[in-house]
Amino acid sequence: MAKVLGIGTATLDIINTVEYYPTEDEELRVLSQRRCVGGNCPNTLTVLQQLSHKCVFAGIMADDPDGRFIAQQLKQTGVKVDDCRVVEGRTPTSYITLSRATGTRTIVHYRALPEFSFADFAKIDLSSFDWLHFEGRNITETLGMLTFVRKKFPYLPWSVEIEKPRANIENLFEGATILLFSRHYAAYHGYAKAQTFLQELHSSLPHTEKVCAWGKEGAYALGNGGEIKHAPAFFPPQVVDTLGAGDTFNAGFLNARLRNHSLSESLTLACQLAGRKCGQQGFNGLG
Ligand code: ADP
Ligand code: FRU
Repeated sequence: MAKVLGIGTATLDIINTVEYYPTEDEELRVLSQRRCVGGNCPNTLTVLQQLSHKCVFAGIMADDPDGRFIAQQLKQTGVKVDDCRVVEGRTPTSYITLSRATGTRTIVHYRALPEFSFADFAKIDLSSFDWLHFEGRNITETLGMLTFVRKKFPYLPWSVEIEKPRANIENLFEGATILLFSRHYAAYHGYAKAQTFLQELHSSLPHTEKVCAWGKEGAYALGNGGEIKHAPAFFPPQVVDTLGAGDTFNAGFLNARLRNHSLSESLTLACQLAGRKCGQQGFNGLG
């Protein structure tokens, strides 16, 4: 069991489940609707918490009813939110269309809040944490956080999720213990294969574990040994909800590494957990 601090953004997810994904300008009635906490880092922490880790989320929360709902929901799952900064404004909201026919999730996101800053981060007492996990965003401020950690807590390991291609996000690579890449990021940079993408990163980042989830094709990783590892996807009897599959994969992988499983085993365990998640609605019962 580890004490994990995650830095990122929390959202309100409004999830409309529909029979099939509508065409543009169509009118379609939803089968069901639910409101829940979302955001990559909160999702990952929610799963890690179920896997017996002690998780703390740090980010910006809006001082509105949705912001209070998010804080209360996270607390209910055991994730602490005391290091968040509350500001005036509206909670970031994702309007999600979940297709029952395919299990795909289409996200339209509203966001107008400031980002968690280095000054906010510097107020957190890092001495009790075993692991830090960052969303790869807000590059200048996040780089300040990483530089600070490297200087003041050189033995504290960290992971960064590299999901969306953003200007200068590569500045966050150096010094990470684990980098968790998305297929989207690799594809954006012209890679059709995760293996080539990871191999090309290896020479500049030989000591960082580089992981890349590849949807239904499972996931790949390249660690210190220099050998590519692969685990196939785990297919549930029925794909019900793929929202947060990647966030669950990340939690599964971090949990496995925190428990000293090998790189190869960790990939397998992460794919199994993400696959189980795809077979159910939401993140409950993954522990
Ligand atoms: P996201 O779109 O949430 O970022 P990915 O597509 O990268 O997630 O998938 C992350 C992991 O989740 C994959 O490595 C795979 O193990 C699992 N996964 C994703 N989609 C499916 C699916 N349809 N069936 C089974 N497993 C899946
Ligand atoms: C899923 C998710 C949702 C959130 C969106 C933010 O991976 O974290 O919960 O609304 O992505 O980009």
